[in-house]
Amino acid sequence: MDSYLGLAQSKVKPRSVVDAFSNRTATIKKRPPRPTGYPTTSRPISTSSIVIDGAAQFRYLQEEHRSLLERYKKLEDSYSALQNEYAKVKSDNERLQGAYEELQESYNTATAKNFNAGKLLVYLKLKRRTDKETLEKRNIIKNEACFNTYLQDVVLLDHPRIPRVVHECIAVLEANDKFMRSPGLYRVSGDHNAIQNLRYDINANNYKRLRKQKSPHEVCGILKLFLRELKDPLISLETCAKHLPDVIQMKTNTRLKIKQLISSLDEVRQNTLKVLIKHLRSVAVIEENEVDSFSLGLLFSSLIFNETLADVCPVKFQKMLYWVAVVLGVIVAALAALDWKYKSYQHLPGPRRWPFIGNVVSFLGAGPVEIFDQLIAFASTYGKVYKLDFFYDYTIIYSSPEAAEGILTSPAFTAKSQDYDKVSEWIGNGLLISRGQKWFTHRKVITPGFHFKILENFVPIFNRQAEAFCTKLEALTERSTEAVNIFPALKLLTLGIICETAMGVGMDGEKQSTQQAYYTQIVEELSSILYWRMFNVFVNIDALFRLTRTSRRFDELVQKSWNFTLGMIDRRRKIINEQETLSGEWNEEETFGKRKRALLDTLLEARIDGNPLTDEEIREEVDTFTFAGHDTTASAMTFILYNVAKHPPIQERVYQEIVNEIGADFCDLSLSTLNNLHYMELVIKESLRLFPPVPVIARIATEDTELLGERLTRGTSVAIDIYTMHHSDDYFPDAERFNPDRFKGARDAQTFNPYTYIPFSAGSRNCIGQKFAQYELKSTLVKLLQRFQIRLVDANYVPTLKAEIVLKPAA
Ligand code: HEM
Repeated sequence: MDSYLGLAQSKVKPRSVVDAFSNRTATIKKRPPRPTGYPTTSRPISTSSIVIDGAAQFRYLQEEHRSLLERYKKLEDSYSALQNEYAKVKSDNERLQGAYEELQESYNTATAKNFNAGKLLVYLKLKRRTDKETLEKRNIIKNEACFNTYLQDVVLLDHPRIPRVVHECIAVLEANDKFMRSPGLYRVSGDHNAIQNLRYDINANNYKRLRKQKSPHEVCGILKLFLRELKDPLISLETCAKHLPDVIQMKTNTRLKIKQLISSLDEVRQNTLKVLIKHLRSVAVIEENEVDSFSLGLLFSSLIFNETLADVCPVKFQKMLYWVAVVLGVIVAALAALDWKYKSYQHLPGPRRWPFIGNVVSFLGAGPVEIFDQLIAFASTYGKVYKLDFFYDYTIIYSSPEAAEGILTSPAFTAKSQDYDKVSEWIGNGLLISRGQKWFTHRKVITPGFHFKILENFVPIFNRQAEAFCTKLEALTERSTEAVNIFPALKLLTLGIICETAMGVGMDGEKQSTQQAYYTQIVEELSSILYWRMFNVFVNIDALFRLTRTSRRFDELVQKSWNFTLGMIDRRRKIINEQETLSGEWNEEETFGKRKRALLDTLLEARIDGNPLTDEEIREEVDTFTFAGHDTTASAMTFILYNVAKHPPIQERVYQEIVNEIGADFCDLSLSTLNNLHYMELVIKESLRLFPPVPVIARIATEDTELLGERLTRGTSVAIDIYTMHHSDDYFPDAERFNPDRFKGARDAQTFNPYTYIPFSAGSRNCIGQKFAQYELKSTLVKLLQRFQIRLVDANYVPTLKAEIVLKPAA
């Protein structure tokens, strides 16, 4: 077989099949050597093949050619696309190169100006944004400027005929209830950068970003910016000058003149003003946003007449006007701030408030009886929370246990209110009035002086003093059949007791008795002046009070009161010195043992951070205890006697208990015998409920805080009307009835909030002398009932009350 056969056969096969036979072709045998004489011109191998398969091969090549042409065309297309892309990239590159150079230039300038990194950033940003032309060139903004232009240029062509930006801003704000209620609307400035971005967008007639704002302040900022930058203000001062006469003439027919001014404006201005004022009105009526028409008026007036002083004033008046503006600005800002404070309590009920002076009028010319009556009437009219305002000085008065608990347990209310400052001119900054660290350290030093072992030592003094008091009363009743006014007499008794127990100074001698009587009168007069100052707004102001004759009397009385207390301190120092010389240093056993240790000794020996109390500090505490320890207890005892006199069966029950537990005759008392008088305890408790000697206590918020869900700003005074709370049927059924049994047994903790009954206050600043007072009251009542039957002169008598700091029967 011909060795070429395979190859020849293969020619008819498609190329791929040939490849499949490649093994065989690869093993193609060598050609047999050519016979000699065989022409050397080589015959093209393919010739024989083409000859053999020419048509097929041609078709194949034709196809091949066509596909190559197609590929070429495609390549040509993609080449031109690439060329386009190249051109685009090239132009981008050039643009970037331009921006880069710009940045480089800015950087160089910034470096030259020695900016630090943070400033540099800001500087660059600002420079880029203000480069409006570049932005316009790059087609980032369209030349449709809205700001810093003339009103007519930016007015909408269709309805409403007002600047579009005004329309858009108002629409964005009014469509969102939350925005309209946002506190400080128009007063709070928006984010500067955000406002600048909005400005560029709006200049390019793009309002999308404005409509998507999450905060109202940037929207308000844009509106204000637009008005401020208007080249022709809504109302020019020129127009004002033409239509409004001078200030004096303005006093009459003001409305008419303003109307004339507005009607002289063109249609666009009138429309814009109308829309703007309508919008501002709807802002002002919303309480939550804390802006009123006054502050809005103030703000927008400068935007509506946006000329500067330089535009309208000759230079020589500018300085003067500047200062007038500053002073007016300060006054307006102060009034706005005060008014804002008022607004935050506006929802609370309270008596009618006069502009600026508040509720001063309600107490003008009122004496201590009328003031107390007024307070009780307010509580019954306005309920458990109401407000009083004296020249923007707010006091919120509460009469519920929840509020009492909130106030007395909160660290925000440990400071006493400003009313106590007046009292401090007399009794100084002692335990009752001091605050902060001073109060804390002094309370710590003084508290052991009321330890029950010390109180035990005081009982013989209560005992003896009460017996002496009864003897005096006996002498009085023997001399005359006239009724005894018990309150002044009891004040002498309680003062004697506090002097002997707390101050360690007996008041038995005649000279001391006279001094004592004098001191009680001084306290009476001082309390009355202080109470008058608290509620009479004119004398409440120190400078005005100092102009009155009473201020000189006040100083005189204070001096006399100090003489009394300084005299006591002197006497006690002498007694201590004498005792120390006799028996050496005092020791712990003696403190709680036989020797009677007075509170004053604790003060004289106290060391705070290693230092003794100054003479002034000691005097302040002595004044505090002498005052707080005698007037209150005398008041409590007076009302207890009134109650038992008014309810003879109750008096009888108390007497029977005394007879059963102690006997009918005078004898020595002790803490344990006094503790056995359970019914008497109920009687005292009930009397302190109906006649709490301290009827109202007050604190000041030393920080912004919350009370019963109410936001109270720092500096707001809060008062607890203990009297009203104790008289409320909500907490004490049939509250006006004297019913000691209501305190029988432990009251259900579930239903009875302990802060409902607080004659001695509660919490960290409760009465330090509470136990002292209770034993003193019991001892005195035991002695009095052992000796006397107590009756009212008129069985129907009901005391008229006054509250000169301490609740008292009015004479
Ligand atoms: C029935 C008699 C008494 C009553 C009803 C009474 C009531 C009160 C009340 C309500 C307070 C709180 C005042 C406030 O928060 O502004 C208080 C504080 C005080 N009381 Fe009494 N008190 C009585 C007797 C006494 C006595 C006998 C003494 C002294 C021996 C005394 C010394 C004080 C002192 C020093 C404070 C201030 C405590 C402090 O802030 O740390 N009290 N008292």
